[in-house]
Amino acid sequence: MSDHNGRTPAEGAFLVVLATRNPDKIREITAILRDARVEVADPADLPRWDEPLEDGETLEDNAYIKAKAVYDATGVPSVADDTGLEVDAIGGAPGVRSSRYSGEGATYESNCAKLLSDLGETSARSARFRTVVATAGLDDAGIAGGDFDVDGVLEGEISSERRGSGGFGYDPVFVPNGSDRTLAEMTSDEKNAISHRGRAFRKFAAEFSRRLDAS
Ligand code: IMP
Repeated sequence: MSDHNGRTPAEGAFLVVLATRNPDKIREITAILRDARVEVADPADLPRWDEPLEDGETLEDNAYIKAKAVYDATGVPSVADDTGLEVDAIGGAPGVRSSRYSGEGATYESNCAKLLSDLGETSARSARFRTVVATAGLDDAGIAGGDFDVDGVLEGEISSERRGSGGFGYDPVFVPNGSDRTLAEMTSDEKNAISHRGRAFRKFAAEFSRRLDAS
């Protein structure tokens, strides 16, 4: 159990709370951080937090908004990610608006359907996922350099139809470069090894470890 300043001395790990209630993200991030020097707190052990309004102009803004809201509510250093899908043929949309691309009450299915319909038969289907990971509370916890952000990118193409049942979000319509399968046709380990989120959180873990050693 932590003393709530972020440290768990018994294991030498550092307690953080993931600033999300999305079970798909929690599952992926916990797996990616398996060998990192952080222990992911169980939100059930912490004060409840209200989801902040993600009204930033950039993925960086929104990641900081989420991390700060959860740190302020729980007192535990927080790590947030914000992800956008940028599709070149539609000017980089849906980007920072990826979760509500198909409007009020958008679902993973309705967002994928709108994207396939917007692209139609075009052969220009290049796209990328970008994840930004940001922290809040590391300054107060005395970590060298304090809060920081990193990102991870996965280049690929939008398929012509949905394929696969793994992953979440736009995974059934995204084919990473060098693959003939969508992310939803991969195992979770395969996705995490190459994904935007995997890359961003591995960068986070390496940078965090460096700062922990310098603290
Ligand atoms: P968020 O703002 O980081 O929660 O992500 C915005 C939206 O992007 C989500 O609602 C999902 O539809 C989509 N998304 C985020 N991460 C992924 C992913 O790893 N694969 C596919 N879609 C994703």
